[in-house]
Amino acid sequence: MTGPPQTTFPSVRRSLAMGLMLLAFALIPAKAASADNEGAMISWGHTIAMQGNGLPGNTACAECHRINGGGMPSVGIPRIAGQTETYIYREIRGVQKGTRFSPYMDRIVLNLSKRDIHAVALYYSTVRTPKLHDPAEFDPSLATLGRRIAHRGLWERNIPACIICHGQDGRGIPPNFPYIAGQSKTYLLGQLFSFAVIKRKDDPEGLMRGIASRLTNREIKAVAQYFASLEPPVYGPIPVKNRPDRLRLIPHKETPSP
Ligand code: HEC
Ligand code: HEC
Repeated sequence: MTGPPQTTFPSVRRSLAMGLMLLAFALIPAKAASADNEGAMISWGHTIAMQGNGLPGNTACAECHRINGGGMPSVGIPRIAGQTETYIYREIRGVQKGTRFSPYMDRIVLNLSKRDIHAVALYYSTVRTPKLHDPAEFDPSLATLGRRIAHRGLWERNIPACIICHGQDGRGIPPNFPYIAGQSKTYLLGQLFSFAVIKRKDDPEGLMRGIASRLTNREIKAVAQYFASLEPPVYGPIPVKNRPDRLRLIPHKETPSP
């Protein structure tokens, strides 16, 4: 029951305290610098979204995705508000490299540098936008089938439940698995067919190509309709230590610096 000699305690404590103080001094400026840097990146991303980066061919993202990232459900332009920075970055790089089939975006993103892509991805990852009206037709006879595939899959045909990867109610699993809840029916249909015929081939390990190509047209319609009927995630502020990627509210002004 005899512990370590009491006399060493104060000195250990003292050096521990000194160490912590030094560590704090070392960390504070670094933290402040990275917050400033992030604020600057978000604001550059906002500029690109509003007016492009100034180089030829680079159109404002807002023309199609809107500045609030809500997209245009009637013509199948996706919402990108609140998708993770990681996912948005990967998709745009995919368009540049030609692995993500995107006839509308390929010339627009050609002149974006990696830094530009980080900035605009960061900007849209911080935007919170409620669901927009989706004028697509809703077929009640497909409702049960869509729900069933989403939650239980079709195991006899090797089709896993969508929510295993896309999260509860299709709300995404950051940072790699995008949310699909609240995307428009037109967009979801387009992407599933695009995976099925292997036009879109940026999905890791061909996961989505395999799944989509095993679904029938009717099943694709059912599952697209199901996820289009759900609410997209609109996260509130999340405590810093719990932020899986960049899920947080966009600061109203600049990121406050201490
Ligand atoms: C002319 C319209 C148009 C413009 C401008 C445009 N996009 Fe897109 N974007 C689309 C369409 C349509 C799609 C979906 C279909 C596809 O892949 O072709 C898309 C898809 C995306 C996706 C993938 C979304 C997902 O859920 O996988 C991201 C991310 C994206 N755009 C970001 C941007 C950014 C950032 C800009 C500005 C630099 C931009 N887009 C400019 C039309 C546009
Ligand atoms: C094993 C994991 C996995 C399962 C199961 C899965 N997905 Fe996916 N899905 C992914 C990944 C990863 C991506 C992102 C691919 C990329 O980076 O382009 C994706 C992308 C998508 C997209 C495109 C999203 C966008 O914003 O463009 C749709 C739509 C989609 N999945 C629908 C489904 C449906 C419907 C099901 C169920 C039938 C399903 N997924 C099951 C992993 C999965």
